[in-house]
Amino acid sequence: MWGGRFSEGPTSVMREINASIPFDKRLWQQDIAGSKAHLNMLVTQNIVSPDDGQKIHEGLDKIAQEYAEKGVPEDWSLEDIHMVTEKRLADLIGSAAGRLHTARSRNDQVATDFKLWVRDAIDMVDNGLKALQIALVTRAEQHTATVMPGFTHLQIAQPVTLGHHLMAYYEMIVRDRSRFQDARKRLNQSPLGAAALAGTGFDTNRYQTAKELGFDGPTANSLDSVSDRDFALDYLMAATQTALHLSRLAEELIIWASQPYGFISLPDAYSTGSSIMPQKRNPDAAELVRGHSGRIAGCMTALVMTMKGLPLAYSKDMQDDKPPVFEAHDLLSLAIAAMSGMIETVTFQPDKMRKTAEAGFSTATDLADWLVRQAGIPFREAHHITGTAVRLAEEKGIALDALPIDVLKAIDPRIDESVKAVLSVDASVASRKSYGGTAPDQVRQRVLEAKKALGLN
Ligand code: ARG
Repeated sequence: MWGGRFSEGPTSVMREINASIPFDKRLWQQDIAGSKAHLNMLVTQNIVSPDDGQKIHEGLDKIAQEYAEKGVPEDWSLEDIHMVTEKRLADLIGSAAGRLHTARSRNDQVATDFKLWVRDAIDMVDNGLKALQIALVTRAEQHTATVMPGFTHLQIAQPVTLGHHLMAYYEMIVRDRSRFQDARKRLNQSPLGAAALAGTGFDTNRYQTAKELGFDGPTANSLDSVSDRDFALDYLMAATQTALHLSRLAEELIIWASQPYGFISLPDAYSTGSSIMPQKRNPDAAELVRGHSGRIAGCMTALVMTMKGLPLAYSKDMQDDKPPVFEAHDLLSLAIAAMSGMIETVTFQPDKMRKTAEAGFSTATDLADWLVRQAGIPFREAHHITGTAVRLAEEKGIALDALPIDVLKAIDPRIDESVKAVLSVDASVASRKSYGGTAPDQVRQRVLEAKKALGLN
């Protein structure tokens, strides 16, 4: 493509380090769409004749058909998807092919292709996340009153409802989706027509190409247009945040599936056995979701490091922008699908959850609160009295609400029979009626709102 200036060809090492076709062939649909939009504009502006325009159009259609049927050929000497396609176009239609690259450069071309790809990727991730939200809300609705221990420091703290716990992840994904939507809005300006870096002397119409490609308008600065990869970083950062949430949920599933917890049984479909220990059922899918999140964060870091310190405008380092985005997208898509599948099919063990909540003195705060409310005792003193009750129950190996009333009265004479009503885990969760609290009534309300937001009712 630049034989005019060069007398020698590249060495094989140069060809290899220079080639992006092994990965950027993934942009072929966006590349053809971008070329067609550019071509239509060139014809409208009388820069390319309608006749040549027709030939190029048909050539691009033929190439798209070839790529769809046989894949994109990987010729390293042609470097990238833009040149592989241009060369094929020349083979098919002859010299008219050379008119397509008027008033553009591969610099604005690749920025445009990549933006279009990331925009589609955002839409795919959004669909996946919506499906995961539906799975979470569906399971939460079945368990608005299922009592489980709530933890802080991974120590049993207060009873909560399983529905409430699942809806916490729903909320995280609301934020994740809004982060992707925000990224989508920000990226939606077309770099096409910025040319190599300075714009073009041809009488182009960048509004036309922007519109045809579904952008809100053209980018405003040609230097920024070809050097900007914020959109890829926005995607990777949103992906990292999402992966982090998935990883935390995965970690909980792993802990809950462990025998000492026994809060869930993961279905066979998302578990593996051991080749040596016949009793094993390992939560591999959850572990890989957790593992993938680290790799996704690694992809984000890779592109941050690539872009850091690059002067304006385009530098070849930027060719390295695509592998981390593609990798992160593939990993994230799989992780979302695996997590949705697990949430849809996991078997919860409400009895085990309840027993653990009861055994963990999780209603101790309720006893202290009762002392404050019913006996007018200052909270710090109530905390101390309750601590004594917990110690006695622990010594006897019984739950707090199983302590005989005489024992409680002996700790503090202001305690009477009515305290029993607040010591059960059910009474505890039912009392937490503050907005956003764990009470089944509250959770039911949040589930209804979520279903509405998801278009489910
Ligand atoms: N393959 C290149 C990339 O992915 C396309 C842009 C090449 N531009 C250039 N001036 N060498 O970034």
